[in-house]
Amino acid sequence: MATNITFHPGSISPEERKTLLSQKGVTIWLTGLSASGKSTIACALEQHLLHLHKISYRLDGDNVRFGLNRDLGFDEKSRNENIRRTSEVSKLFADSASIAITAFISPYRVDRAFAREIHEKASLPFVEVFVDAPLHVVEQRDPKGLYKKARAGEIKEFTGISAPYEAPENPEIHIDTSITDVAESVRIITEFLTTKGYIS
Ligand code: PPS
Repeated sequence: MATNITFHPGSISPEERKTLLSQKGVTIWLTGLSASGKSTIACALEQHLLHLHKISYRLDGDNVRFGLNRDLGFDEKSRNENIRRTSEVSKLFADSASIAITAFISPYRVDRAFAREIHEKASLPFVEVFVDAPLHVVEQRDPKGLYKKARAGEIKEFTGISAPYEAPENPEIHIDTSITDVAESVRIITEFLTTKGYIS
C-alpha cells in the first residue's frame, strides 16, 4: 500500500462531464459460466450502443488476460485479483461517462460485491447481468473444447466442473440464454438502461 499519496480532483465535475458529452457512465457487469454467452452478448450490446452513438467499451475476460492481467491464473486468489483490477478499470470507464461492458466469469459473489460497492461509493450505476444457462447446455456448446478438457482432467480448477460458480442472488437482469437469443438479450439490457435513465 503506497503512502504519501494525494487524490487530485479534476476541473470538470461529473455533472459537467455528463452535460458536455450528453452521456452518463455506467458499468454493465455480465457474469456467468464459460460458454454461457457473455462475450457474444457483450459484443452485440457494444455494437448496438455504438450505433446509438453511445460511447461504449467492452472488457472481456479472455482479452484482458492477454495484457493487464497476463500475470494471473485461475486459482481463487488470481480470480479475486482479476476481478478487483477489472472492477477498478470499469469504474474508471464509467467515471469517464462511458458505458463499460464487462464479460468475466467472475464466479465469486464477494468479488462482484466489491465491484458494485466501489461503483456505488462513486455514485456510478452498476448493472449486474446474470448470463445464465444450465451446465449441461454450456457443456454441450463447448465452443473452445474446454469442458471436454476439464472433464478429462487436462484443465484444473475449471468453473462449473472443478471450481465453483456462485450464482448472483439479486442481479438487476437475469437472462437464460438457453431460451433467449442474442438480439433479445440486447433488447432486454437496452430497455433496462433506458428505463433507468442511464441512456436516452
Ligand atoms: S474469472 O473466473 O472471471 O477470473 O475468468 P475470466 O477472466 O472471465 O476468464 C475466463 C476465460 O478463461 C478461459 N479459461 C478458463 N475459464 C474458467 N476456468 C478455467 N480454469 C479456465 N482456463 C481458461 C475460458 O476461455 C474463459 O472464457 P469464457 O469466455 O468465459 O468461456
